[in-house]
Amino acid sequence: MLCLGIESTAHTIGIGIIDSDFNILANEKDTLTTEKGGLVPKELADHHYEKFIYVLKKALQKANVSLKEIDLIAFSIGPGIGNALKVGATAARALSLKLNVPLIGVNHCVAHIEAGKAFTKSKDPIVVYASGANTQIIGFQKGKYRVFGETLDTGIGNLLDSFGREIGMGFPAGPKIDENYFKSNNLIELPYSVKGMDLAFSGLLTAITKIKNKYPVEDLCYSLMHTSFAMIAEVTERALAHTGKKEVLLTGGVACSKALQKMIQEMCVERKAKLFITPPALAVDNGAMIAIQGIIEFNAGNKTKIINSAINQRFRTDDVKVNWI
Ligand code: FE2
Repeated sequence: MLCLGIESTAHTIGIGIIDSDFNILANEKDTLTTEKGGLVPKELADHHYEKFIYVLKKALQKANVSLKEIDLIAFSIGPGIGNALKVGATAARALSLKLNVPLIGVNHCVAHIEAGKAFTKSKDPIVVYASGANTQIIGFQKGKYRVFGETLDTGIGNLLDSFGREIGMGFPAGPKIDENYFKSNNLIELPYSVKGMDLAFSGLLTAITKIKNKYPVEDLCYSLMHTSFAMIAEVTERALAHTGKKEVLLTGGVACSKALQKMIQEMCVERKAKLFITPPALAVDNGAMIAIQGIIEFNAGNKTKIINSAINQRFRTDDVKVNWI
């Protein structure tokens, strides 16, 4: 069985083709990047419409299959930016009807988790899902992926990108900030706000923006990452203690940060937990993870009727009924 997965929740239009053993035959994408400003919903939709056919052709070519050989269409039904989600959903419906194959709308966050688990072979982890828009500490309990802690304002990736824009790094700034992290160990004191099990990053952004001209860039990058990642590590450690789980899985675009990996690894060593890191191509937003989730849900008997395939911008991780574990 071949599943074609479409990702379009935010800046990336991605198409992956997967077989039933989760072999990735193709995982092609095109990401909108900007020098200034954030993500403008209309520009995202224009980008995704413009690039869809190009990415689809590239994916089919890479997988060396024709559209007729596809048995299942999966797409991100939410959460995400409405204009962007609609492009993927519209294309998915059209392909499902044209090819007369089943359609599955999957939760983007759960797809991150399951793709990470499938690839790293972790069994029952506390998941650190750290991306531009999302920052959640998640674990499976009683039939659902429970969100033990999450950001109350901006995602960790947005925090890093907003700061990057303030100092003229362009978008995405995360990789450049990550490089600078390892050039300093001068910690500037910044607001550390863990509220219960939740996190808040906007005060941190305000504070570091105010002092951006007073310190070298590498000290600012080091301090911003050290403070925000320590907050994430603290909540992750408490989720491990609460659940008794012994694995941590890092996923989402910010999982590519070497600084985050280092800090979570140090916490895991102290707690005798094992750290699993989703490989970069599967950790960032991509179509292959949507296709993996499509196959998992299809095997569990799930399908999405066209009439039920409307996007859900606020589709929460803990709203998903997990009938495949
Ligand atoms: Fe994502």
